[in-house]
Amino acid sequence: MVRAMNHKSRLLSEEALTKYRIELLVKGTVVIGPQILFTQDELAKIDQLQAEIPEEEVREGDAGDSHNVFVKRVRIDPPGRAPSNANGAAPGQIMELLERKDRSFALRKILGATSDYVIRRCQMHRMPPGSYVGIHLDAASDPDFEYSVIVQLARDFEGGEFVVYPSGYEHQVYRPPFGAVLVTTCRVQHEVKPVLTGERRSLVYFCSKRSGANRRIIESSTAGL
Ligand SMILES: [Fe+2]
Repeated sequence: MVRAMNHKSRLLSEEALTKYRIELLVKGTVVIGPQILFTQDELAKIDQLQAEIPEEEVREGDAGDSHNVFVKRVRIDPPGRAPSNANGAAPGQIMELLERKDRSFALRKILGATSDYVIRRCQMHRMPPGSYVGIHLDAASDPDFEYSVIVQLARDFEGGEFVVYPSGYEHQVYRPPFGAVLVTTCRVQHEVKPVLTGERRSLVYFCSKRSGANRRIIESSTAGL
């Protein structure tokens, strides 16, 4: 019997996809182990490409939260506008790598989407000692963000734990290893604890079923004037 390729994941069995899907539904967060969604070669390629992107220091999150992190923009999602790749060749090449069919298929199953999702925003985070990301809600940046996907790109660091705060449940602390992928809902608050030693680096992208303009409304006393 011939089975169509697009009905089956080459990266993960149906059973494994279902297990991750259920964990994400129940806990709001799931960690997919190293070497599953990204090969070593793909991680190395991401590292090589991101080196070409200019870096900016971010001290305040766009939802008014406190940050201290170095950011490289891969895909931007400004309020009132449709998402677009950042300038230069590297952002487009990173996006192409992220959106490869096998990975999109597996991720779509884990996210529970019946139709395709889009990556609305994507960025690299570099966190030397003392860096942190204060408690925030990803959906505050774009109400259509559903899940954030965080790819761990560093091996040797201490601190920098990812902590989620589900309402009505005890907080959960995650320390994903190099190459692991953490998926979390954008509707639960989370933070990254201060990095103590070494350097934490990650690629973060935000998935949504909507591809149009960012529907976030910026409240301002001078709006419309
Ligand atoms: Fe976040």
